Amino acid sequence: MARQVPARNSSDAEVRSLAASSLVKLFDSLYEGAVVIDQAGRITWINDKYKALIGWNGSEAIEGRAIEDVLPNSRLRHVVETGQADLLDVVMVGGRQMVVSRIPLHGEAGNVIGALGVILYDRLQALKPIVSKFQQMQTDLATVRKQLVEGRHAKYRFSQFVGASQSATDTKEQARRAAEREGAVLLLGETGTGKELLAHAIHAASRRAEGPLVTINAAAIPEALLEAELFGVEPGAYTGAGTKPRSGKFQLADGGTLFLDEVGDMPLGLQPKLLRVLQEGEVEPLGGNQLRPVNVRVIAATSRDLKAMMEAGSFRADLYYRLNVLPIRLPPLRERHEDISMLCETLLEQIAEQGGEASRTLAADGLARLAAYDWPGNVRELRNVLEQAVAQADNRRLTGADFPMLPETLIAAAKDPASSAGAVESGVRPLREAVAAAERTEILRALEATGWVKLHAAKLLGISRAQLYEKLTILGIVSDIANT
Ligand SMILES: Nc1ncnc2c1ncn2[C@@H]1O[C@H](COP(=O)(O)OP(=O)(O)O)[C@@H](O)[C@H]1O
Ligand SMILES: [Mg+2]
Repeated sequence: MARQVPARNSSDAEVRSLAASSLVKLFDSLYEGAVVIDQAGRITWINDKYKALIGWNGSEAIEGRAIEDVLPNSRLRHVVETGQADLLDVVMVGGRQMVVSRIPLHGEAGNVIGALGVILYDRLQALKPIVSKFQQMQTDLATVRKQLVEGRHAKYRFSQFVGASQSATDTKEQARRAAEREGAVLLLGETGTGKELLAHAIHAASRRAEGPLVTINAAAIPEALLEAELFGVEPGAYTGAGTKPRSGKFQLADGGTLFLDEVGDMPLGLQPKLLRVLQEGEVEPLGGNQLRPVNVRVIAATSRDLKAMMEAGSFRADLYYRLNVLPIRLPPLRERHEDISMLCETLLEQIAEQGGEASRTLAADGLARLAAYDWPGNVRELRNVLEQAVAQADNRRLTGADFPMLPETLIAAAKDPASSAGAVESGVRPLREAVAAAERTEILRALEATGWVKLHAAKLLGISRAQLYEKLTILGIVSDIANT
């Protein structure tokens, strides 16, 4: 069936004109505002909604004015000049954020004869579902990014290294100075003395703070894997090495700091490669013969006696001297008993924060009990003991009785070695008890040998008189005998 034909054929020009005017009506109803300018940037048409939006009083004519007289920051003239549309933009109009579109208008010959600007939304609220979805995605992205980076940023600052004793403040001062300088740092101290804490703090206070902080523990990684972990792998270095190069910790730390923990456990075979990075700033990935430049500061730490290892030939002398430029010794807790109270306060606060409860405090006899122990595991052990006590005790103030895990006196531990579970079957007892027993035996022998003259006994034992007095106090009964 034939379609109905209009009675009269409109001319092309008429159709265009009709189309244009219906489009203008459509804009008028659809958008929050619409404005048209001519080639010279003068307003030729603006709808009432737009006038209302900008607070035009209606008495004067807008048409014929330059667009900037009415909308000072308008970019419509730019659209006329360039012929380029701005399909979506966010602008401030009358103190509100608005979404706008700007489209060039073309004449018959394709030349630009003006531009149309429309306000799609006069309130971003209208876009709220989309905006909030976008914000959620931004938040998710930020979280993922943070997680990625987190493992490579400093977790501690100098302020977190607690201690007012002379040895602790000396250590902190040295570390602060190291942070201001470049070059390798060597942290020397028993386990739990705060080497890792200090390494983080040094990085955070250094010029490299914005760069990554990467950690590797030479004692925790099997020797066969350590080389690849440290220096990376070239593609095809070995069967299954893959086709892409794999970065080692040195490359990951580029521009930042590498914390090389337990450097004393570094296999002799890998030591020259480490020396090369320290001296030349170059790494040699596994399976490649190319050297890659890296800019990394090394902070090494060890609980071993590196000097003795060097003398015994198990640590290279050249590497030792290279690392030992800025040695920092971390004092064991037994050398700074006066810091225990302060440390407990901080640690108890941290423990309370983790558990989401109010912080516990220490009664005088609780502190005395802690101070009588010699802390072979240092601050880490102190933290563990406090955690146990908090978990087991209900009282807010921890007393001596809340620390049953510590030996009452060394004598008590020495007297009854079978008291610990498993001791009878295996014949093995906790090291702490064995050490306590050995200490007691030696001290008694020294006292006997010197006729109980404590100064001489201390000399024989290679400790100070103050240290001997402290041990005698811990030994309780022994002290009584000594006083008779
Ligand atoms: N001076 C200190 N002040 C506060 N906390 C400390 C201090 N030294 C160590 N710690 C805490 O003791 C624990 C062990 O410290 P860490 O730095 O891992 O020791 P290391 O690396 O020497 O074994 C950590 O929880 C650390 O926060
Ligand atoms: Mg450590």
